[in-house]
Amino acid sequence: MLFPSIFARLEENRWNLGTDIRWQDFDASKLTERQLHGIKMNAILEWSAMPTAEMFLRDNSHDADFSAFISIWFFEEQKHSLVLLKYLKQFAPEFCPTEEELSAVRFSFDSAPPLESLALHFCGEVRLNQWYRCASAYHDEPVIRQIYSTLANDEARHARAYLDYMRKSLKSKTREASLAFAKIGVLMTNARLNKAMHPTNLHVNKRLYPDDTVNGRLPDPEWLEHWLSNEIRFDSQWEKKVELGILSNLSGLLGHEFPNSHALRSYHKHLTKTAAAA
Ligand SMILES: [Fe+2]
Ligand SMILES: [Fe+2]
Repeated sequence: MLFPSIFARLEENRWNLGTDIRWQDFDASKLTERQLHGIKMNAILEWSAMPTAEMFLRDNSHDADFSAFISIWFFEEQKHSLVLLKYLKQFAPEFCPTEEELSAVRFSFDSAPPLESLALHFCGEVRLNQWYRCASAYHDEPVIRQIYSTLANDEARHARAYLDYMRKSLKSKTREASLAFAKIGVLMTNARLNKAMHPTNLHVNKRLYPDDTVNGRLPDPEWLEHWLSNEIRFDSQWEKKVELGILSNLSGLLGHEFPNSHALRSYHKHLTKTAAAA
């Protein structure tokens, strides 16, 4: 069981929302209204961990170890939302999301293959780690810079925890897990498909289509794309870091070298063919 060691690791790195953030350093002159709008959208995006946790618990009723981990993951993601909400409430209350805006991103996700969801969220955390690093560098206001960098470190630890569960799954379901992880890796490293390749951009409920992506249910559905391209400027250099993070970890996990996304695509094709032949 991985839960006890992951619990200990995350506990060791736990930060305090009241005392570890240097709230006293706030400098209103270094902040724009557009940036506050972005912080509001991020606070709502983090709130969407709620339906994701509900999905994980429902789809992993067979896996008590992973389900136990989701309790910490859910707690930490809600804390991410809370620290951004606290920032807005304290320094720009007019930008605080309403409860209705937060509730809009809580909707039921269709059942999904658990191994694919696992890999999807591993990739999502790798990406979010880089988005937040980039956001921290972009901002000038010291408190929000510190918040984004604190969240980035948490997202990196989440990625590692998901990776630990991927490694565990490979031991018991080698072929099925390899196929699922390679498939999702191909999807999430295909930057040409969509720069914002993140779980919050995926359609997750057929009945609600097309109103079934978390991003589409934000008060400003166009925000994420604009934030990435025109505000924090998440360019090809940053995108490269996401791709490298995913590919190097998948290389270690699957025991094959993936120097680029093309190599992973070929590996996935090979696995698919072998599985079909079997
Ligand atoms: Fe988060
Ligand atoms: Fe996370």
